[in-house]
Amino acid sequence: MTLRRWIAVGAVAVATAAALNVAPAAAGHRHDPATQSLRDLAQRHGLYVGTAVDMAALANAAEPRYRELAGSEFSTVTAENVMKWESLEPTRGTYNWGPADELVDFARKNNQRVRGHVLVWHNQLPAWLTSGVADGSISKAELRQILRDHITAVVTHFKGKIWQWDVVNEAVSDPWDTPSTLHYKGFWAQNLGPGYLADAFRWARAADPKALLFYNDYNIEAFGSGNPADDKTQFVYDMVRDLQAKGVPIDGVGAQGHLGTQYGNFDTLQVLAALRKFAGLGLATAFTEVDVRSQITDGVEAGDSAEINPRLQASAANFSVLLKACLAERHCLSFTLWGFTDKHSWVPGAFSDPPEGLATVYDENYQPKRSYQELKADLIFAGPPYVLPRIPQRPRR
Ligand code: G3I
Repeated sequence: MTLRRWIAVGAVAVATAAALNVAPAAAGHRHDPATQSLRDLAQRHGLYVGTAVDMAALANAAEPRYRELAGSEFSTVTAENVMKWESLEPTRGTYNWGPADELVDFARKNNQRVRGHVLVWHNQLPAWLTSGVADGSISKAELRQILRDHITAVVTHFKGKIWQWDVVNEAVSDPWDTPSTLHYKGFWAQNLGPGYLADAFRWARAADPKALLFYNDYNIEAFGSGNPADDKTQFVYDMVRDLQAKGVPIDGVGAQGHLGTQYGNFDTLQVLAALRKFAGLGLATAFTEVDVRSQITDGVEAGDSAEINPRLQASAANFSVLLKACLAERHCLSFTLWGFTDKHSWVPGAFSDPPEGLATVYDENYQPKRSYQELKADLIFAGPPYVLPRIPQRPRR
């Protein structure tokens, strides 16, 4: 049996088991929680469950299921790509608002909130910007002005329509980078120094007094050594604390949550401890890009259940760890998947040698996987005294 077939069979089996497991009295009962959407189940906790949205898939009339699920299962959406600099300002001073405005309009029609992604990142920058700096035609002083102009134009355009902005994304290196001691990495730090972080948050706040301003990064789901030289979470914690001490208007930290079943990852209490530590700074938190990829071995590709099922189970467990920790921390405001179907996931394109995939909660045929059911179960069975409604975050001036 092929991989797709196995996953379809697995998904049907899981869904059937879930349905059969429902007590007869509840089976088919209109309030049967197992038949409710992720967004409706999360609402009881005041939690927003979201997804990154691929605008091409959303517009594809041949795939109505994508649009249906994007609207029905989620209460917040993030532009996977169309709010990035290369998309919004492909030529200097000329903005392409169309695709992003379509997502904002989709969200309005589906009573959803919007996470703005992303004002400042070292990836997906337009060629006019990077080549201008490289050839010296854009000076450092001019680059800082260009950054200010971009942030001001974008935040002003979407003013009042963005719940949370990823103001700065992935500013911190990883222990496997060179040098291994953690440092500020990428185009903006190299050309403007780390001061660009404070600038970016201040300029974003000046353009929108109400949006929640987040720092967003990966591999910060739990603390490690506690030494900021090699513990990225600790480095980020120290960074945001220092920004706050300077009066920088930062409201939250987003942990992306890109996990893999081949890695050790974390337990729920470890992740909860990290969320609580950031909350101790008066910050909101969010999981912003959750997916759990697996290695597509020959056995997986061939449909060997002995290789597929452990990966589906491990994926579900990893999704659940992050959601349970978020539910238990009242300042964790949202839990966003980075795409919801294996048919439209960034993972296979980014991890091809060796191949990886199976990263989302619906398979390529839009059948819910074990991870989807596990998220539902977490939302259904969570409640007082350990899971209480979210505490709203007041935007810092
Ligand atoms: O727009 C071009 C298109 O014109 C061209 O024909 C096509 C083929 O080359 O490429 C298209 O650009 C692609 C872009 O997505 C838009 O679809 C790039 O090749 C592709 O590399 C890019 O990948 C995105 C990736 O960020 C880039 O780093 C993924 O879709 C997106 O899911 C991913 O998302 C990031 C978050 O923004 C930040 N956190 C990490 C996460 C995963 O990398």
